[in-house]
Amino acid sequence: MRICSLADLAPGVALRVDTVSPPIAVFHTEDGEVFAVDDTCTHQDASLTDGWLEGCEVECPLHASRFDLRTGRVDAPPAKRGIRTHAVTITDGDVHVLISAAEPNLPPGVSY
Ligand code: FES
Repeated sequence: MRICSLADLAPGVALRVDTVSPPIAVFHTEDGEVFAVDDTCTHQDASLTDGWLEGCEVECPLHASRFDLRTGRVDAPPAKRGIRTHAVTITDGDVHVLISAAEPNLPPGVSY
């Protein structure tokens, strides 16, 4: 699915996309790479779009878990389960995301 023009997603910025369920977060790193992951932290109900982007990691705004945007791996607790990642392609200056067929790792009590 087309997300936006790359020109509209400045480096260091994240975009929450809630037209899919569960919502996803698309990040444009300072190094110019674009990554997409599920927006909801796997620990509790927090939006990773509101977190802090540092290199290829995002830090959750609620309890500071860090996730590697390349793999979804947890780099810092308290989250234990990785975040689902989605394939990103840039075509003709537009950001496209292919939503993963894997089950999302939503936190307890959260459903979409
Ligand atoms: S909600 Fe993300 S670390 Fe707790």
